[in-house]
Amino acid sequence: MSIIAPSLLAADFLHLQEACDMLNKSEAEWFHLDVMDGRFVPNISYGLPVIEQIRKATKKVCDVHLMILEPERYAEAFKNAGADILTVHLEACVHLHRNLQQIKGLGMKAGVAINPHTPVNLLQDVIQDIDVVLIMSVNPGFGGQVFIPHSVEKIRELRRMIDAKKLSTLIEVDGGITLANAPQVVQAGADVLVAGNTVFKSADPLATIAQLKQVG
Ligand code: DX5
Ligand code: ZN
Repeated sequence: MSIIAPSLLAADFLHLQEACDMLNKSEAEWFHLDVMDGRFVPNISYGLPVIEQIRKATKKVCDVHLMILEPERYAEAFKNAGADILTVHLEACVHLHRNLQQIKGLGMKAGVAINPHTPVNLLQDVIQDIDVVLIMSVNPGFGGQVFIPHSVEKIRELRRMIDAKKLSTLIEVDGGITLANAPQVVQAGADVLVAGNTVFKSADPLATIAQLKQVG
């Protein structure tokens, strides 16, 4: 069974308490929180004050996905806001290994996200220092996009790399996940499914989370 990480980006921002109440009741283990800076990605989402409030509204894992340049400038602030997992983009980090040490030194799990064009093998020499690899299955910046099919091959390759090194690094997949494509994503080796629109635009979000949980 996969870990389900609904993305708050698709929730109704005027009713975030309701979204949190629903997720707290659900089988989802993680809240996926997307932070965008309008520089690394062509969109701006929400930031620290919103995450501080979400932290107060849940005991579940706060999985913060930073789509920002120079993430090292904000790691401590996101720790203080309540992040349990802090994920930075490989493409945004000149000194990725140092960034991961910083995140772990602050007491968080360290994640690395890779864009659709970034090869999995660039992780070869840092994978042992990563708690979660987030494979972007759309170009980051917006919810509600269509899953890029080649992502499945990248998940398989990453699974092989992690298993060959006998690591416990989790594989998280983010973007365009639906009930229809989730089975192939899980079969390819994903451990964590992010789902924004599939959960929040569903007529019955709790049932949809339960269905995603059963996949694989
Ligand atoms: C996109 C974000 C995703 C997004 C996923 O840049 O990283 O987490 O919220 O939304 P869906 O599941 O609707 O594609
Ligand atoms: Zn995300």
